[in-house]
Amino acid sequence: CGITAQVGPTDAADTLLTCLENLEYRGYDSAGIALSDESGLTINKSEGTVGDLRAGISSDTFDGGVGIGHTRWSTHGSPSDENAHPHTDCTGSIAVVHNGIIDNHEALRTELQSRGHEFTSDTDTEVIPHLVSERLEAGEDIEAAFRGAVRELDGSYAVAMIVSGEQRVFATRHGSPLVVGLGDRTQYLASDVPAFIEYTDRVIYLEDGDVAVVGPSGHHVTDQAGKPVDRSVETVDWEPEAAEKGGYDHYMLKEIQEQPTSLRQTLEGRIREESVSLESFPPGSFTDVSTVQFVACGTSYHAGLYGSHLLSEGGVPATTHLASEYAVYPPPIDEDTLVIAVTQSGETADTLEALRVAKEHGARTLAITNVVGSTAARESDDALLIRAGPEIGVAATKTFSSQVATLLLVANRLIEDVTGELLDGHLDRLESLRSLPSFVQTGLDTSQAPAVADQYLSDGHFFIGRGNGVPVALEAALKFKEITYEHAEGFPAGELKHGPLALVTADTPVFVVCTGRDASKLESAIREVQTRGAPVIAVAPRSMSDIIDTADETLTVPATHPDLVPILANVQLQLVAYHAAAKLDRAIDKPRNLAKSVTVE
Ligand code: G6P
Repeated sequence: CGITAQVGPTDAADTLLTCLENLEYRGYDSAGIALSDESGLTINKSEGTVGDLRAGISSDTFDGGVGIGHTRWSTHGSPSDENAHPHTDCTGSIAVVHNGIIDNHEALRTELQSRGHEFTSDTDTEVIPHLVSERLEAGEDIEAAFRGAVRELDGSYAVAMIVSGEQRVFATRHGSPLVVGLGDRTQYLASDVPAFIEYTDRVIYLEDGDVAVVGPSGHHVTDQAGKPVDRSVETVDWEPEAAEKGGYDHYMLKEIQEQPTSLRQTLEGRIREESVSLESFPPGSFTDVSTVQFVACGTSYHAGLYGSHLLSEGGVPATTHLASEYAVYPPPIDEDTLVIAVTQSGETADTLEALRVAKEHGARTLAITNVVGSTAARESDDALLIRAGPEIGVAATKTFSSQVATLLLVANRLIEDVTGELLDGHLDRLESLRSLPSFVQTGLDTSQAPAVADQYLSDGHFFIGRGNGVPVALEAALKFKEITYEHAEGFPAGELKHGPLALVTADTPVFVVCTGRDASKLESAIREVQTRGAPVIAVAPRSMSDIIDTADETLTVPATHPDLVPILANVQLQLVAYHAAAKLDRAIDKPRNLAKSVTVE
């Protein structure tokens, strides 16, 4: 879910709706705003998108400047008008928006009901305005009542609240992100910076336990007991245009096309003459590490798989784990273990939980993330930014490429520090990495993906590879099913004959990720499926001529170091998924049932 708030002289309705549109990648099954002026609170909320909400609001009925807003990805309670936020107390004078889960909401609701409170939704959120209202009735001032109510909540939350007649927003966070934006005459609040980046770039990242009171001309932050805490003001360097569609039909296509630029940003200043230069990780930073464990979810998990493959090949014991499993069933961990959380948002609850478990076991932790000040960055011992710029499309594209490029750099340092030796062919790989953005550009400029997507759209697609092509096969299948809603499976080519082959018919296009290695083994896999009539599309560098000759179709990628070809192949498969989804007229930037940043376990 995404939450936002504004405190200013005017235009709250329009600004809140704009901020919510910018936050829709966090959820889009219902939306709502609450506005406050002398006449009280006005609430508009409904099932559906922010666009649906906007269409139902007449902008000339309200010109006040204070309000809160919410766009929802349902956890407790189905998407419906009643369950849409904001939620209010019995008197309708306190309105609250919330992102996260209140674990003890049932107990709180039962207690409140026993004291006469009536509830109108199934959500966990609704307990919050009722808790605040009880405290106000008992004579506490609003700030104290808000802090007191928050102290009663267990779980993970970011909350914003307005009260009828008040020119202030009250907000807090614990486990879900919340950022204050400081304008000249208007102050903002949101789950994430892109919400208000077109209005201000001066921000304060709140930390867990912070309670912020934001007024028209200022703000103050305390802990839950009311003790002031100091939070610095930072300037974000994202251009507002970076979070806009810029003439493309979808953010996803824009973000795919942006990859030469985002990769340039990722690599900038990080490759010196003959070595890697990684900000706070000079040579020797990892000499105490004996094992590396990656934890991640979704697309980031596939980047992690790529990372462990690189490290294992370079002689560093490394494994990759799905964060949700790791958090509950951790492998052996000790103080020589480096746990690397790969998470573009830095806010994925499963990944944060895995990080916490790793810390409890004494591991050293490193977050590889796209978001400065994110929870993963703050809670880890160290953080390294992938510097991909804002990614709005729910399906991750440019962040995957930047994660993989960052992992190539980190692997370089780790291999040298842990094994005491440089990777074989280290200079070749560095040289190719330097040229990666231009290889990606060539791949984009010459891509045959639109025609391939058109010709091979079916209701079952296979993506196979070997070695470091496997993470790409898995990622390509995930991308394809996320946005086309058609079935797709990815797996190592060697596994075909152990089961999946049973599904292969003449209607199963098989995409084969070829990185420049394993040619003969991939060729046998190709023959296995071709014998069953399946069309084969090789994604391969021109140098793999035997594969290209055997396949029915080829998406060629520039020939470069085999460790980098996976990135180039993946870009082609991003385009295939995109064009297939466009042909099917899917909601590409906001696929059904998904959210970009999942802040609940
Ligand atoms: C969600 C998104 C995926 C993403 C995953 C991990 O499920 O829909 O696209 O890969 O979260 O996100 P993270 O921010 O941790 O990389």
